[in-house]
Order: sequence, then C-alpha cells, then structure tokens
Amino acid sequence: MSEEISRGQERAAAIGAEPKITATNRAPSPKAAANTEIDSAPTPKTVAKTEPVPDAASRPQHVLDSLLLIEDFLRYGFRSGRRLVAGDAAFGLGASSGAGYDAAGSCNSVPDEDRQARLDAIEARVRQCRACGLAQSRSRPVFGEGVTAPQVLVVGEGPGAEEDRQGLPFVGASGHLLDKMLAAIGLSRKTNCYIGNIVKCRPPNNREPTQTERNACIGYLLAQIEILRPRFILCVGRTAAHSLLDLNEPISRLRGRTFTFQNIPVRVTFHPSALLRDESLKRPAWEDLKQFRALMDSMTDDQARSSVAEE
Ligand code: URA
Repeated sequence: MSEEISRGQERAAAIGAEPKITATNRAPSPKAAANTEIDSAPTPKTVAKTEPVPDAASRPQHVLDSLLLIEDFLRYGFRSGRRLVAGDAAFGLGASSGAGYDAAGSCNSVPDEDRQARLDAIEARVRQCRACGLAQSRSRPVFGEGVTAPQVLVVGEGPGAEEDRQGLPFVGASGHLLDKMLAAIGLSRKTNCYIGNIVKCRPPNNREPTQTERNACIGYLLAQIEILRPRFILCVGRTAAHSLLDLNEPISRLRGRTFTFQNIPVRVTFHPSALLRDESLKRPAWEDLKQFRALMDSMTDDQARSSVAEE
C-alpha cells in the first residue's frame, strides 16, 4: 500500500471519528480534501470523479447531506459553496454556477447569521470533544477567530500556552507577530480573515501534534472551511501545510508554490514562532507575504466565479 493511500485512509478514519459533523455542520469527505498544485495541475479534479461511493453504513448521512443541499437550493438559490460529492451526484445535484462571490472574494450569499450558527454548533462539539489525549491537558479548546465570510483563512498548528488560557488562536507572542504580518498586507482577523488551527487543543509543552491527534481533529477544520469558504488559505508552518495538503515535503519546498484545497488557492509560509526564533527568516517570510498579496490581487472576481463554476 503506498504511503499516500494509507495517509488518505487515516484521514478518512479521522474524519469519520469523533468530529462527526451533523447534517448541518458536517466536514467534507476526506477526498474532498484532495489538493493540487496550480502550476503543475491546471485542471482541478472534480471531487465527484474521485469520491469513493459511500458504504452502506454511511448512506444515511449522505441522505441527510443531500437533503441539506436541496434546502440550500431552496433557501439561497445555489449550493452556497458546498462541494460536489458522490452522494450529491447520486441525488442528481450538480455543481452550482458559482454565484455568490463578492468583490472582496468572499462567498456572500449565505447570511452571516447562518454561518455563525453553523460555526457555533461545531464549536459546541469541540468543547465536548474527547477524541484524543489533548483533551485531558487542555484548559480551553481554541476553535478559531475572525470574520465569518473571510477573504483569507490562516491555518496554524495548534494552540500554545496563552491561547490555551484565553481560548483564542494566536494571542501569544507569535500571535502578535502574525497580526503584524497580516496587517502589512492589508489583512486582519477583525475585518477580512479567519484564523484557525489544525488541532484545537494545546499539545503539552508546545510539542508538535502527533499524527493521531491531527487525524482526530482535522475534521473540525474541514468543517470550518466548508462553512467559511475563504477565498484564499495561508498555511503558517510546516505542520499546517502538511496536515491540510496531505504532503510531506520540507517547508523550503512548499514556499513559493500555489496549491489548491477544494479549489481554494493555498500558499505556505513560515510559522511566526519560527521567525521569533530565527530573525533571518523574516525577510523570506515577507517575500512570501508579498507574493500572497500579489496572488490575491491578481485573481479577479470573474476568475473566482469561473474557478468555482469549473467544479
Ligand atoms: N501557534 C499556532 O500554531 N497556533 C496558535 O493558535 C498559536 C500559536
């Protein structure tokens, strides 16, 4: 069995494990997490072609999911940024024409209250979650923070000590630096960003979360992405990039490339705590941020629409 397949299966197990997202707040399928690199794979694969047919045990969930999609059509007139999965195709629900992205690049057709309610429901599950050992040592889980129709989702690794105390992401020393880095390219969690993490609970002594812990938690992030539908994703640090993109290359090989995750462009830069440890990384990180901003500016609203429509 290739490593890629086994990692895919682990992700499947993870998403089917504790973070069982309900019909209204479900995580996308593991295969929906398939990523491509834009430069090397110009034609994004549709999820419909690669999604395994659900086994008998998971069909009821697909029925609920499909009913939810019908509700989307009735309420919003389109698929509100949801991905096409095999279950949808089986119910005759195709991809939308991609309406609903505003000039800032956020999907604006789903009312903010609805997004907030869905996020709140998942956050409530996270507060109850005991899917891995991190639950025992945490003070507070850290779900995420930011606007509900973000232009950019920033993905970090996991909470540190201060985050664990406050229940908010990136509020310690590395958080202050992250806020400054984002501000330098016109981004802020108060106006146009959402900040989340791969794992929602602090690993003791700030160690890297294990693969088991990441697998146990990634479903929550996938659900957040499904709801938020950010226009771009910025992974800070190797752990975030590896976990989200299911890759294993050193960060030096990930920077400077544009990947996609569910058709959302993804760029990778250093974690701010790496910059605090090693000042010499600040300049290359700034180059990454400038490139990220240029990518954002280069993608017009029309391109956003067509990239969604292609799905
Ligand atoms: N480091 C992270 O990766 N995430 C946080 O929320 C804080 C520090």
